[in-house]
Amino acid sequence: MGRIKVLDPETVGLVAAGEVVDRPASVVKELVENAFDAGASCVEVVVDKELKSITVRDNGCGIAEADVLLAFERHATSKITCGADLERITTFGFRGEALPSIAAVARVELKTRVADAVGGTLVRIEGGQVVDFRPVGAPPGTTVTVRDLFYNTPARRKFLSSPRVELGRVTEMTGRLALGRPDVAVRLESGGRELFRTPGTGLAGAVRAIYGEAVAAALVPVEAEGAGARLTGFVGRPELVRTTRRGQTWFVNGRYVKHGGLTAAVYEAYGTLLPAGKHPFFVLHLTLDPGFVDVNVHPQKLTVRFDQEREVLAFARGAVKKALFGRAVLIPGTKGKGTTGGMPSGAGFRRGLPDRLPGREPVPGVFFREETGRYGAGAAGLAAATAEEAAQVRLLPGEGGLPGARSEGDAATGTAGAIFPTLEYLAFLPPTYILAAGPEGLYLIDQHAAHERVLFEAFGAALARGGIASQLLVTPELVEVRGFDPEAAGELARFGFLVEAFGEDAALLRGVPAGLGAECGRLLLAELLDLLAAGEQADGGPGAGREKAALASLACHAAVKAGERLTAPEAAALISQLAACREPFTCPHGRPTTVCLGYEELARRFGRR
Ligand SMILES: Nc1ncnc2c1ncn2[C@@H]1O[C@H](COP(=O)(O)OP(=O)(O)O)[C@@H](O)[C@H]1O
Ligand SMILES: [Mg+2]
Repeated sequence: MGRIKVLDPETVGLVAAGEVVDRPASVVKELVENAFDAGASCVEVVVDKELKSITVRDNGCGIAEADVLLAFERHATSKITCGADLERITTFGFRGEALPSIAAVARVELKTRVADAVGGTLVRIEGGQVVDFRPVGAPPGTTVTVRDLFYNTPARRKFLSSPRVELGRVTEMTGRLALGRPDVAVRLESGGRELFRTPGTGLAGAVRAIYGEAVAAALVPVEAEGAGARLTGFVGRPELVRTTRRGQTWFVNGRYVKHGGLTAAVYEAYGTLLPAGKHPFFVLHLTLDPGFVDVNVHPQKLTVRFDQEREVLAFARGAVKKALFGRAVLIPGTKGKGTTGGMPSGAGFRRGLPDRLPGREPVPGVFFREETGRYGAGAAGLAAATAEEAAQVRLLPGEGGLPGARSEGDAATGTAGAIFPTLEYLAFLPPTYILAAGPEGLYLIDQHAAHERVLFEAFGAALARGGIASQLLVTPELVEVRGFDPEAAGELARFGFLVEAFGEDAALLRGVPAGLGAECGRLLLAELLDLLAAGEQADGGPGAGREKAALASLACHAAVKAGERLTAPEAAALISQLAACREPFTCPHGRPTTVCLGYEELARRFGRR
């Protein structure tokens, strides 16, 4: 690091100023960031239980004796020299405020040695006054100890919480710092106990050290490049979803940030994988040219601004989506080794399977049954599909293609669609499960959830193509609708409902979505009208949310129910159709369609290992 200089007043005016120390955690943050900036490969944070003393030790470049006192001057920094340097900041610090701010409100001792210097330097400062300054023997690097924070400012001390709470904040902060620089080994010790120690060998090791083995095992790696940016890190598999937003960490160029847009991009990538009210776990690093990010907008440096925000967000969304859906890890119980990786060698069941994934095979519309006028109910099998039936079930995936059109985000990142494992139908397990053999063991598919997913995507695709096919009722039905708005008829027709106004408080139902049946159709119409009306009031864009909700209800009503027994060919067809879905792993409400009882689990249960 260069020499420490006091910034000129003009540059001081440019750096967004702010209070940098308000509690022990912010002291830790400033000292550890200084250690990172000093090029340390090892940083150790040691606190006592009462947080009366905070020590941060590093093996970085150290401070030359002549600079030691300067480091405690306001606006003295070695990291920038003029305003133009602000454009390309690569260090955490640049304001030259941390050390003087801390030294003003605590008793600080700093011991430091530059590697090739003969000896080190010690300085002690209390309440801003230098009380000791002398040469001392020291290992290369810097150790700063901060004691009695706010001893001379009782008003600020009052704002501190209990030591337990403050220690929690220190732990969270140190963990966050370690995740931000996973190439540095970071150790946290409190009251003589080691809380964690990251290996400094990369993010995977850091995440494991901080969150533990169970969390680490439930993560999917993210790795993508595009839009002039690079995204790396981990996102949680759906079973890791949480009830709080803790465990969500975004870094931009190594700096922890809170950015609503970036966080929203992750939620969007999860889509229906996230049950309502649940939050994903993620640790993500976005790297881009420092010239395209402004980190100087907030004194606590928690927020950033991007020059090309839209592109960056679309890239992030696409990359997370690709990571989540680009592999079969989304099935609870699987290890995510892909479609074959988890299979023990010599397992024979796969030999009889076709080479092609069933999802890519043409699947005739076997799921509509004439007798009942419903998808999946009754006894008609593959062979019974009549021409008329085929026309009605056009909206099912099956003509050799995937059910839905790919979204732009996918196209942008080249996502090749979800990889669902090749599964072979075995048996039906009442009341609602289909058993199938697959690469990692025994798979159980919830037939209702799976069919819901298939129909949700098929109806969605039909809607995108102009509308869901409707089926005329033999006798139109009079339905009670308070204040039916004839304008709504067009919208309803897109969903397959043919409705005419009929007097004040009624409407004539002439047609329902193909395959739904009159009874079901009537029930759903009321729900749909409610949804559409509610959607109109909520000003959330062009109604994408309510359209999704409407599609989800439609799919739910039309899907095969628990307790209905599918024939073997139907069950096999359902598996194929599910495999062809864009997001086959969950139903539209976010519940899993498929779980796996893996070989390892089976072997353990049978005492084979
Ligand atoms: N751990 C450390 N190792 C080496 N140099 C340090 C360390 N901590 C502080 N310094 C030096 O002291 C200066 C002032 O630090 P600080 O007050 O945190 O301001 P800033 O980090 O914004 O430059 C830094 O610019 C750096 O040169
Ligand atoms: Mg600093």
